[in-house]
Amino acid sequence: MMPPMGGARAANDLPPNHPVRVWMGEHEILLGFLDQLEQAATDARKSAAGLEPGSPARVALVKLASNLLDAEPHHQREEQALFPRMEEVGIEGPPHMMRLDHDELRLAKRALSDHVTAATPADEAFVERFCQVADFIVQVLRSHIHKENEILYPMALQAIGADGWRAIQADCERIGPCSFTKRG
Ligand SMILES: [Fe+2]
Ligand SMILES: [Fe+2]
Repeated sequence: MMPPMGGARAANDLPPNHPVRVWMGEHEILLGFLDQLEQAATDARKSAAGLEPGSPARVALVKLASNLLDAEPHHQREEQALFPRMEEVGIEGPPHMMRLDHDELRLAKRALSDHVTAATPADEAFVERFCQVADFIVQVLRSHIHKENEILYPMALQAIGADGWRAIQADCERIGPCSFTKRG
């Protein structure tokens, strides 16, 4: 198989509403959320002051966790529209690995949301658990996004023809956008 083109370069040649372009744009937004989460964990390790339930910083964490959960339509578009078409043309390993990442991330994002939403005091145990889950999400989702941008999408662009992409786009439109990209 020919080496895939670099993800960013390949995506620049695509129309703005091409599914890969949309996914890569959503990845940029998700990377921004991960930067915020990483910073929040760094701050919490220094001091848990200000993280009590109902405080502005805690409310911001609840919103951040909710934004991460709202990536669900992005993952569903990949799982339901893209991966089956890759599997149809014999590319099975990479979609399988990405599905496993999605499953792990779903559990971790739900755990993060439950943890920061609960009325738990901001004590040492709260911070320890928060940082543990946040570190996991930051590491796994950053790596997942990198693998999709640089390997999986370029592979898909090479392997799937125009008709396949039209079907993928129709499926993506049926599933719909993430709330953080919906335009007013
Ligand atoms: Fe993914
Ligand atoms: Fe993705």
